[in-house]
Amino acid sequence: MSVPPLVARARAAALELGFEQSCRDGDGALLHLLAERRGIERVGEIGTGTGVGTAWLASALPPGVPLYTAELEPAQARAATALFADDPDVHVLEGDWRDVLPSHAPFDLLFVDGGHAKDDPEAVLGLAAPSATLVMDDFSADWVGRDPRRERWLGHPRVTTIEVGTGGNARVLLCVVRREAESGALHVVNEPEPIAGLRGSPSLRGDLAEIGVLGDLRRALRRDH
Ligand SMILES: C[S@@+](CC[C@H](N)C(=O)[O-])C[C@H]1O[C@@H](n2cnc3c(N)ncnc32)[C@H](O)[C@@H]1O
Repeated sequence: MSVPPLVARARAAALELGFEQSCRDGDGALLHLLAERRGIERVGEIGTGTGVGTAWLASALPPGVPLYTAELEPAQARAATALFADDPDVHVLEGDWRDVLPSHAPFDLLFVDGGHAKDDPEAVLGLAAPSATLVMDDFSADWVGRDPRRERWLGHPRVTTIEVGTGGNARVLLCVVRREAESGALHVVNEPEPIAGLRGSPSLRGDLAEIGVLGDLRRALRRDH
Protein backbone atom coordinates (compact mmCIF):
# COMPACT_ATOMS: atom_id res chain seq x y z
CA MET A 1 0.00 0.00 0.00
CA SER A 2 1.08 3.58 -0.48
CA VAL A 3 2.23 5.70 2.44
CA PRO A 4 -0.54 8.06 3.63
CA PRO A 5 0.38 11.79 3.46
CA LEU A 6 -0.05 12.13 7.24
CA VAL A 7 2.63 9.46 7.75
CA ALA A 8 5.02 11.37 5.51
CA ARG A 9 4.44 14.48 7.63
CA ALA A 10 5.08 12.54 10.85
CA ARG A 11 8.32 11.22 9.32
CA ALA A 12 9.38 14.76 8.44
CA ALA A 13 8.75 15.81 12.06
CA ALA A 14 10.89 12.88 13.24
CA LEU A 15 13.71 13.94 10.92
CA GLU A 16 13.53 17.48 12.22
CA LEU A 17 13.81 16.29 15.84
CA GLY A 18 16.45 13.68 15.07
CA PHE A 19 14.05 11.01 16.34
CA GLU A 20 15.00 7.59 14.93
CA GLN A 21 12.60 5.16 16.58
CA SER A 22 9.56 5.57 14.36
CA CYS A 23 7.86 2.38 13.22
CA ARG A 24 8.73 0.95 9.81
CA ASP A 25 6.38 1.10 6.86
CA GLY A 26 5.64 -2.64 7.05
CA ASP A 27 4.58 -2.29 10.69
CA GLY A 28 2.58 0.81 9.84
CA ALA A 29 0.76 -0.96 7.02
CA LEU A 30 -0.22 -3.71 9.46
CA LEU A 31 -1.52 -1.13 11.95
CA HIS A 32 -3.48 0.53 9.15
CA LEU A 33 -5.06 -2.74 8.07
CA LEU A 34 -6.05 -3.63 11.63
CA ALA A 35 -7.52 -0.17 12.26
CA GLU A 36 -9.61 -0.45 9.11
CA ARG A 37 -11.54 -3.47 10.40
CA ARG A 38 -15.17 -3.25 11.35
CA GLY A 39 -15.96 -2.95 15.06
CA ILE A 40 -12.98 -0.90 16.24
CA GLU A 41 -14.44 1.68 18.62
CA ARG A 42 -11.42 2.93 20.56
CA VAL A 43 -7.72 2.79 19.79
CA GLY A 44 -4.65 3.29 21.98
CA GLU A 45 -0.92 3.64 21.48
CA ILE A 46 1.88 3.41 24.05
CA GLY A 47 4.75 5.59 22.86
CA THR A 48 3.81 8.19 20.22
CA GLY A 49 7.23 9.34 19.07
CA THR A 50 6.44 12.04 16.53
CA GLY A 51 3.28 10.26 15.44
CA VAL A 52 4.28 7.90 12.61
CA GLY A 53 2.37 4.89 13.98
CA THR A 54 -0.43 7.21 15.10
CA ALA A 55 -0.68 8.52 11.54
CA TRP A 56 -0.90 5.00 10.06
CA LEU A 57 -3.72 4.25 12.52
CA ALA A 58 -5.54 7.57 12.22
CA SER A 59 -5.55 7.49 8.43
CA ALA A 60 -7.51 4.20 8.52
CA LEU A 61 -10.07 5.02 11.21
CA PRO A 62 -13.53 6.34 10.37
CA PRO A 63 -14.50 9.74 11.83
CA GLY A 64 -15.68 9.53 15.43
CA VAL A 65 -13.38 6.70 16.53
CA PRO A 66 -11.06 8.10 19.22
CA LEU A 67 -7.35 7.33 19.23
CA TYR A 68 -5.39 8.01 22.44
CA THR A 69 -1.61 7.99 22.29
CA ALA A 70 0.80 8.50 25.21
CA GLU A 71 4.25 10.07 24.93
CA LEU A 72 6.61 10.80 27.81
CA GLU A 73 9.01 13.17 26.05
CA PRO A 74 7.62 16.71 25.74
CA ALA A 75 9.34 17.54 22.42
CA GLN A 76 7.89 14.47 20.71
CA ALA A 77 4.49 14.98 22.30
CA ARG A 78 4.47 18.59 21.04
CA ALA A 79 5.40 17.54 17.51
CA ALA A 80 2.63 14.93 17.44
CA THR A 81 0.09 17.31 18.97
CA ALA A 82 0.83 19.81 16.19
CA LEU A 83 0.54 17.10 13.54
CA PHE A 84 -2.95 16.06 14.66
CA ALA A 85 -4.20 19.53 15.64
CA ASP A 86 -6.94 19.38 13.00
CA ASP A 87 -8.16 15.89 13.90
CA PRO A 88 -10.63 15.95 16.81
CA ASP A 89 -10.40 12.15 17.16
CA VAL A 90 -6.65 11.98 17.91
CA HIS A 91 -5.60 12.76 21.47
CA VAL A 92 -1.88 13.04 22.21
CA LEU A 93 -1.43 12.62 25.95
CA GLU A 94 1.88 13.84 27.33
CA GLY A 95 3.03 11.67 30.23
CA ASP A 96 3.77 8.14 31.37
CA TRP A 97 1.38 5.69 29.67
CA ARG A 98 0.60 4.07 33.02
CA ASP A 99 -0.77 7.39 34.27
CA VAL A 100 -2.45 8.89 31.23
CA LEU A 101 -4.01 5.98 29.31
CA PRO A 102 -6.09 4.03 31.87
CA SER A 103 -8.89 6.60 32.12
CA HIS A 104 -9.40 6.32 28.32
CA ALA A 105 -9.34 2.51 28.17
CA PRO A 106 -10.47 -0.11 27.27
CA PHE A 107 -9.06 -0.19 23.74
CA ASP A 108 -10.09 -2.54 20.94
CA LEU A 109 -6.75 -2.03 19.20
CA LEU A 110 -3.56 -1.14 21.07
CA PHE A 111 -0.11 -0.46 19.62
CA VAL A 112 2.40 -1.30 22.36
CA ASP A 113 5.56 0.58 21.41
CA GLY A 114 7.32 2.21 24.33
CA GLY A 115 7.83 2.64 28.05
CA HIS A 116 8.86 -1.03 28.62
CA ALA A 117 5.21 -1.97 28.15
CA LYS A 118 6.13 -5.16 26.27
CA ASP A 119 7.65 -6.41 29.52
CA ASP A 120 4.49 -5.83 31.54
CA PRO A 121 1.62 -7.91 30.08
CA GLU A 122 -0.63 -7.40 33.09
CA ALA A 123 -0.51 -3.59 32.82
CA VAL A 124 -1.03 -3.74 29.06
CA LEU A 125 -3.92 -6.20 29.38
CA GLY A 126 -5.47 -3.83 31.90
CA LEU A 127 -5.94 -1.39 28.99
CA ALA A 128 -7.44 -3.95 26.61
CA ALA A 129 -11.11 -4.62 25.83
CA PRO A 130 -12.30 -8.25 25.55
CA SER A 131 -11.10 -9.67 22.21
CA ALA A 132 -8.86 -6.64 21.69
CA THR A 133 -5.94 -6.81 19.29
CA LEU A 134 -2.46 -5.88 20.56
CA VAL A 135 0.42 -5.09 18.21
CA MET A 136 4.07 -5.22 19.27
CA ASP A 137 6.79 -4.39 16.78
CA ASP A 138 10.60 -4.35 16.99
CA PHE A 139 11.12 -8.11 17.18
CA SER A 140 13.65 -9.74 14.88
CA ALA A 141 13.83 -13.01 12.99
CA ASP A 142 17.57 -13.06 13.69
CA TRP A 143 17.27 -13.43 17.46
CA VAL A 144 19.34 -16.36 18.65
CA GLY A 145 18.52 -18.26 21.84
CA ARG A 146 15.75 -17.55 24.32
CA ASP A 147 13.86 -14.27 24.18
CA PRO A 148 11.98 -13.78 27.46
CA ARG A 149 10.12 -10.73 26.12
CA ARG A 150 8.73 -12.71 23.21
CA GLU A 151 8.02 -15.78 25.28
CA ARG A 152 6.08 -13.73 27.81
CA TRP A 153 3.47 -13.02 25.13
CA LEU A 154 3.65 -16.24 23.15
CA GLY A 155 2.96 -18.22 26.31
CA HIS A 156 0.53 -15.88 28.06
CA PRO A 157 -2.73 -17.62 28.96
CA ARG A 158 -4.94 -14.58 28.32
CA VAL A 159 -3.93 -13.97 24.73
CA THR A 160 -3.58 -15.84 21.47
CA THR A 161 -0.33 -14.67 19.90
CA ILE A 162 1.29 -15.16 16.54
CA GLU A 163 4.45 -13.70 15.09
CA VAL A 164 4.28 -12.14 11.63
CA GLY A 165 6.99 -10.82 9.35
CA THR A 166 6.58 -7.22 8.21
CA GLY A 167 9.54 -7.01 5.83
CA GLY A 168 13.15 -8.21 5.95
CA ASN A 169 13.94 -9.62 9.36
CA ALA A 170 11.34 -7.45 11.15
CA ARG A 171 8.82 -9.36 13.23
CA VAL A 172 5.67 -8.21 14.99
CA LEU A 173 3.79 -10.02 17.74
CA LEU A 174 0.08 -9.92 17.09
CA CYS A 175 -2.05 -10.83 20.11
CA VAL A 176 -5.78 -11.18 20.52
CA VAL A 177 -7.23 -11.13 24.03
CA ARG A 178 -9.16 -14.32 24.60
CA ARG A 179 -12.84 -14.29 25.38
CA GLU A 180 -13.31 -15.60 28.92
CA ALA A 181 -15.74 -18.29 27.77
CA GLU A 182 -13.42 -19.74 25.12
CA SER A 183 -12.54 -23.35 25.74
CA GLY A 184 -9.25 -24.86 24.73
CA ALA A 185 -6.11 -22.86 24.18
CA LEU A 186 -4.18 -21.81 21.13
CA HIS A 187 -0.43 -22.08 21.40
CA VAL A 188 2.19 -20.87 19.02
CA VAL A 189 4.93 -23.39 18.56
CA ASN A 190 8.39 -22.57 17.36
CA GLU A 191 8.42 -24.38 14.07
CA PRO A 192 9.66 -22.42 11.07
CA GLU A 193 7.08 -23.96 8.75
CA PRO A 194 5.62 -22.23 5.69
CA ILE A 195 2.01 -21.12 6.00
CA ALA A 196 0.86 -24.12 3.95
CA GLY A 197 2.10 -26.28 6.83
CA LEU A 198 -0.19 -24.76 9.44
CA ARG A 199 -2.28 -27.14 11.45
CA GLY A 200 -5.62 -26.37 13.04
CA SER A 201 -9.19 -26.12 11.86
CA PRO A 202 -9.87 -25.16 8.22
CA SER A 203 -11.30 -21.82 9.36
CA LEU A 204 -8.17 -21.14 11.43
CA ARG A 205 -6.02 -21.90 8.40
CA GLY A 206 -8.14 -19.53 6.32
CA ASP A 207 -7.76 -16.67 8.81
CA LEU A 208 -4.05 -17.17 8.98
CA ALA A 209 -3.70 -17.32 5.23
CA GLU A 210 -5.17 -13.80 5.16
CA ILE A 211 -2.69 -12.63 7.77
CA GLY A 212 0.06 -14.41 5.88
CA VAL A 213 -0.18 -12.06 2.91
CA LEU A 214 1.34 -9.43 5.18
CA GLY A 215 4.56 -11.24 5.35
CA ASP A 216 6.49 -14.25 6.17
CA LEU A 217 4.56 -16.06 8.89
CA ARG A 218 6.85 -18.64 10.36
CA ARG A 219 5.00 -19.94 13.36
CA ALA A 220 2.62 -22.83 13.35
CA LEU A 221 -0.45 -23.14 15.51
CA ARG A 222 -1.84 -26.14 17.21
CA ARG A 223 -4.99 -26.44 19.28
CA ASP A 224 -4.69 -28.02 22.71
CA HIS A 225 -7.68 -29.58 24.38
C1 LIG B 1 9.64 3.21 19.64
S1 LIG B 1 9.23 4.83 20.04
C2 LIG B 1 7.59 5.02 19.47
C3 LIG B 1 7.44 5.11 18.00
C4 LIG B 1 6.03 5.37 17.54
N1 LIG B 1 5.07 4.47 18.12
C5 LIG B 1 5.96 5.23 16.03
O1 LIG B 1 5.29 4.32 15.55
O2 LIG B 1 6.57 6.03 15.35
C6 LIG B 1 8.97 4.74 21.79
C7 LIG B 1 8.46 6.03 22.38
O3 LIG B 1 8.00 5.76 23.71
C8 LIG B 1 8.28 6.90 24.48
N2 LIG B 1 8.22 6.51 25.90
C9 LIG B 1 9.21 5.96 26.66
N3 LIG B 1 8.77 5.72 27.90
C10 LIG B 1 7.46 6.09 27.93
C11 LIG B 1 6.47 6.07 28.92
N4 LIG B 1 6.73 5.61 30.15
N5 LIG B 1 5.24 6.54 28.61
C12 LIG B 1 4.97 7.01 27.38
N6 LIG B 1 5.88 7.06 26.37
C13 LIG B 1 7.11 6.60 26.65
C14 LIG B 1 9.63 7.35 23.99
O4 LIG B 1 9.88 8.69 24.33
C15 LIG B 1 9.50 7.12 22.49
O5 LIG B 1 9.05 8.27 21.84
